[in-house]
Amino acid sequence: MPVSLSMVAVSSALAVLAATTLATAVWAAAVHPVAATTAMTGRTATTSEPTTATTSEPTATPTLPTSATITIEPARFAGKFVPRNVSLAPGGTLQVTNNTTMKHSVTSVAIGTDGTPLFNVVIPPGATRSVPVSALTDGVYDFYCRFHPAMTGSLTIGTGGPVTTVPKFEQPLYQPPRLHGRHLRIVMRKALVRVLPHGPRTPMWTYGGTFPGPTIVRPTGRDTRVTFVNRLPKAAGAVTIHQHGGHQASRYDGQPARYLIRHGQRRTYDWPLRDAGEPIPASLRFYHDHRMMVTARNNWRGLQGMFLTTDPSDAKRGLPTGRYDIPLAVTERSFTKDNRLTNPFHHAMSMTDPPSGTVGSQVLVNGRFAPYKRVRPGIYRIRLLNTSLFSSYDFALSDGRAFQQIGTGSGLLPHAVTRQDILLGPAQRADVLVDFRKLSGKSVLLQSIPRSDGVVGGSGSHVAVLMQFRVRGDKPVQHVHVPDPLGKVEHLRIPRKVAMTWDFGVSKDKHGAYWSINGRRFNPRRVDHRVRLGTVEKWRIHNSSDMTHYVHLHEEEWLTVSRDGRRPPPWERGYEDTWRLDPGEAVVVAAKFTDYTGDFMIHCHMLDHEDDSMMATWRVVK
Ligand code: C2O
Ligand code: CU
Repeated sequence: MPVSLSMVAVSSALAVLAATTLATAVWAAAVHPVAATTAMTGRTATTSEPTTATTSEPTATPTLPTSATITIEPARFAGKFVPRNVSLAPGGTLQVTNNTTMKHSVTSVAIGTDGTPLFNVVIPPGATRSVPVSALTDGVYDFYCRFHPAMTGSLTIGTGGPVTTVPKFEQPLYQPPRLHGRHLRIVMRKALVRVLPHGPRTPMWTYGGTFPGPTIVRPTGRDTRVTFVNRLPKAAGAVTIHQHGGHQASRYDGQPARYLIRHGQRRTYDWPLRDAGEPIPASLRFYHDHRMMVTARNNWRGLQGMFLTTDPSDAKRGLPTGRYDIPLAVTERSFTKDNRLTNPFHHAMSMTDPPSGTVGSQVLVNGRFAPYKRVRPGIYRIRLLNTSLFSSYDFALSDGRAFQQIGTGSGLLPHAVTRQDILLGPAQRADVLVDFRKLSGKSVLLQSIPRSDGVVGGSGSHVAVLMQFRVRGDKPVQHVHVPDPLGKVEHLRIPRKVAMTWDFGVSKDKHGAYWSINGRRFNPRRVDHRVRLGTVEKWRIHNSSDMTHYVHLHEEEWLTVSRDGRRPPPWERGYEDTWRLDPGEAVVVAAKFTDYTGDFMIHCHMLDHEDDSMMATWRVVK
């Protein structure tokens, strides 16, 4: 990689630091030119030294301890670090003692150029371990427990200051093979996948041998049949496939406990891509495993793929198409030293706390760690999709340029909206335009910044640099124009009365605490609400717990009527199927129930929560 290129990457990353880390980020380049130069030299080095950017405050600091101890004490949501914030002199040592009955880890948010956390130590119940921090330079190092990501803390070394790392972008962006036919066949099997740039490939459970699985690309309105064949290892058991955001008969909807595909067997799903006779709004959706109680594991192992419905009139209307339209599935995994996926799914049964969620230390874009993509200096349509099990990403571009959001993951918005950053939780999507004009020869990073909307008590975002766009060559031939109005959102006659309230909370029974809806556990034999086919209903979804949840409704094109009693923000005025609900929040949604009778789901799309019972069934009847 030419030096000039990585210099661009570094300086743009610094620009974001300055933009996002408040006061301390009025950056060292201005205050301490020497420190800044050192940091940048360190980061552009091609050797394997850690390339951590740090900065120092100009103020004098009191004498710092050369050793510190943190204990992990029992708390709601598994445990807490006491104290949460510690300071150390550079070269100091850190001990951590686990006083709980569960396994925890101390894992840094910042990763090194090899993509692994700067420190990552597992501490068994009752044990004490030392955390290797003595080589870290001045900075504030946020850390968390990788088994219980709600447990967080920070370690300040020396004079502190923001820390970020820019990975080397060593692999090109991957696009899974595209399937276009009206009857497709996808064999599920174990395969070796090139996820990390070095070392052995990673064994995964795949759709069709790739991760993500093949991207299904179909014009909207055209019936699509997909035969899935289960040749996964026997231990995977039976599976079921959900086309997330689709509108299909109940038996083709990926029922968690029925219409399963057992080992060695196959099943054909019929996805008509029509709603009440009309083509569904074209968008990037996805398909994934939905098997009861093991959905998190099956998705982690690799059973995820993108589904792009296209609208031929988009090109005529002036939106970028073809190679100027890039779908990005962003997710995360953790790996063992030999590049295998870790197995984070032994949740200790707890009487007081349900499982928090599975996070990964490396963020992947289209299944690869830290890829780069060559683009031309034009306007691109980029489809952002979060397929992580738990984490949210607050997407932003490193040079501070804004996105123009033109759609949700369920079709175009009525009007485009300019956004500096876009927060997406599990299963959420955004359809955006990015303007790379006038940037030839430069690079722009796509990253996830600290959650910027300042919601108190809500879960934050996974902060990381995700990928690099290298702008090269001349401007493309396509002429881009954003029509206004943009997407058509049908007028629904919304009833005055709320027909159903779904309360997402924590409940407890003799087996322990669990994530619940209306106080109950998921039971595939119980129907929680009935709706008459052809009617419009208004539902209220409320979060009574003290953790953020991302609530997904199957089957219909949903409209957001209100969020916390107010008109939803402009980017929530199109169709939706997944909403963020911070603690205490409520959204009111409405849909018309068309075409199909039968059972459909409502659940939290944080997959550990779903598996732990945060799911319920509603039934459409004649
Ligand atoms: Cu994407 Cu019911 O799930
Ligand atoms: Cu949840």
